Amino acid sequence: MKIGILDSGVGGLSVLREIRKLLPNIPIHYVGDSSWCPYGNKSAEVINRRVFQITDHLIECGATLIVIACNSATIHSVGPLRDAYLLPIVGMEPGIKPAAQKTESGVVGVLATEASILGEKFHQLVNDHAKDVKVITRPCPYFVELVEAGTLNGAEAESAVKEAIDPLLDSGADVLVLGCTHYPFLGEAIQSRLPSGVSIIDTGIAVAKRVQSLVPRNSNSVVEATIDIETTGSLDQLNRILPSLLPDLAVNTASCSL
Ligand code: DGL
Repeated sequence: MKIGILDSGVGGLSVLREIRKLLPNIPIHYVGDSSWCPYGNKSAEVINRRVFQITDHLIECGATLIVIACNSATIHSVGPLRDAYLLPIVGMEPGIKPAAQKTESGVVGVLATEASILGEKFHQLVNDHAKDVKVITRPCPYFVELVEAGTLNGAEAESAVKEAIDPLLDSGADVLVLGCTHYPFLGEAIQSRLPSGVSIIDTGIAVAKRVQSLVPRNSNSVVEATIDIETTGSLDQLNRILPSLLPDLAVNTASCSL
């Protein structure tokens, strides 16, 4: 058993850390497609091509289950991927359903990439689960840039958060959905901006639980299960920012030439 995880960059590590908490004894292989990051401004066709290439690579590296730790890639590619591969594929979508159930003001703010917001699947989600709720969307491409640069707090992060979130709060949103896996890394800056009574929905933990439910009980767990993290971008940059993204985890890093 080996869990393969992919994202446009380092954002999916926010999902990896939740999976690791639940499954410390299962090896993980992660690919961050930082040389193609962001996916948020790419077409469905480009995102699909990259997701297929990376999935093939993860399978070659021994992955027996794939996690698309990227909302944008899930929205565009999870269907075609499930049609093409036999192994289990876990995707993730913005938490519209839990947000619509939680809101008391009737207004939900969704922070997500443009690619996610424009996707057919996203509109389906809103139609299916949030018909009676006002859903306000807000793409935050700058959040992705900040996280890829390792800038998780400080003045720059705080002002980006203020600019993205204040209009949602002013419109009466009392639940904010973090619809991109990069955004939880700005969690501290986001939390400190929120007035009391406003909550955040991040689906990382739900995805980790779904992965756990798919791991057979008798699977070959190992005591010191490795975490291999590959990047298609700069390995130096990855090594520089990893201690702030995953402070408590020992990982191996490498370049990926896809
Ligand atoms: N982390 C990705 C997501 O969950 C996308 C970020 C990007 O590449 O634009 O949507």
